[in-house]
Amino acid sequence: MMAVRIWGHGAALPPLVLTNDDLAHKVDTSDEWIFTRTGIKERRIMPQTPDALVQLAVEAGMQALTSTGVAPQELDLILLTSSTPDDLFGSAAQVQQRLGATRSVAFDLTAACSGFVFGLITAAQFIQAGTFRHILVVGADVLSRWVDWQDRRTCILFGDGAGAVLVSQGAENNLLGFTMATDGKGYELLNLPYDPDRSGFAPIYMNGREVYRFAVTKVPETIEAILQTAQQQPQDIDWYILHQANQRIIEAVGERLGVESHRMVSNIAQVGNTSAASIPIALDEYVRAGKIRAGDKIMAVGFGAGLSWGGILFQWG
Ligand code: COA
Repeated sequence: MMAVRIWGHGAALPPLVLTNDDLAHKVDTSDEWIFTRTGIKERRIMPQTPDALVQLAVEAGMQALTSTGVAPQELDLILLTSSTPDDLFGSAAQVQQRLGATRSVAFDLTAACSGFVFGLITAAQFIQAGTFRHILVVGADVLSRWVDWQDRRTCILFGDGAGAVLVSQGAENNLLGFTMATDGKGYELLNLPYDPDRSGFAPIYMNGREVYRFAVTKVPETIEAILQTAQQQPQDIDWYILHQANQRIIEAVGERLGVESHRMVSNIAQVGNTSAASIPIALDEYVRAGKIRAGDKIMAVGFGAGLSWGGILFQWG
């Protein structure tokens, strides 16, 4: 098997900030309620243009390439992980075109908030098999398109954004373990289905309590399973980057594992839940801040609609 290198980081956030106080003018809620239950203070919202998703994905993808020096023409594959494409036929081809990644095949991968982790694992398989040398994995979502802005149970949670990493053939293998899972029985808890009466998609539906319960059960189980296979202890891991769904979920998982809170990566206060984009946006922020350094061990865990969940353990850089 070829060695996997995970490096290169980029992120794109829309300039428009929507604070909890702004939301309190639209629905019956408050900054205090939102912050104490979720840890969210504000989120970013993309203007609703026809190419909003592609714009974010291209910006994040270009940054990730620039940070490595790999040229767009060297890419073999672009994996766009997203649940909110600009086009139901997929938006990856537009990302390929705008990046000028002329040699690259490109396709969309949809697994809601697990999408980025599923994408990283998928990319790693192509690298290990020796099929491809350079793969750009982008997580991008504009869930603001599909939120019911009158529904205070959901509209407070989500924001827009994109993040990206590069997965390449390396000299040493930095992929230490992974796992992925799906349970379609949980579909009713979180979904965004086509509605024939609207000739479109219904707003996001979520049973918050049950999704919370699912997350605080499955995320630690996933982490423990990967650690066991990789023969690592929770304290051996430098950073835990969980999908940024709720600060309380992040803290509950940290406590269950006995991990100090500073290793539990968090930027949810500023960006909210950006779905497939949340892990690479947080990664980018921590790398740029000099916190995450080359060689650090990172456990990234995604979870969400499907229900689906998955984790990947790797060494950065
Ligand atoms: N502002 C004020 N009150 C609100 C509110 C809001 N934005 N949203 C709901 N409420 C009210 C409810 O109507 C309910 O009132 P009632 O008791 O009079 O009926 C009360 O607050 C409690 O609602 P509940 O849904 O039980 O709250 P909760 O403690 O479960 O918190 C979430 C709600 C959404 C924050 C929480 O369930 C959660 O984070 N779940 C996980 C969601 C998630 O991570 N989703 C993404 C996965 S990828």
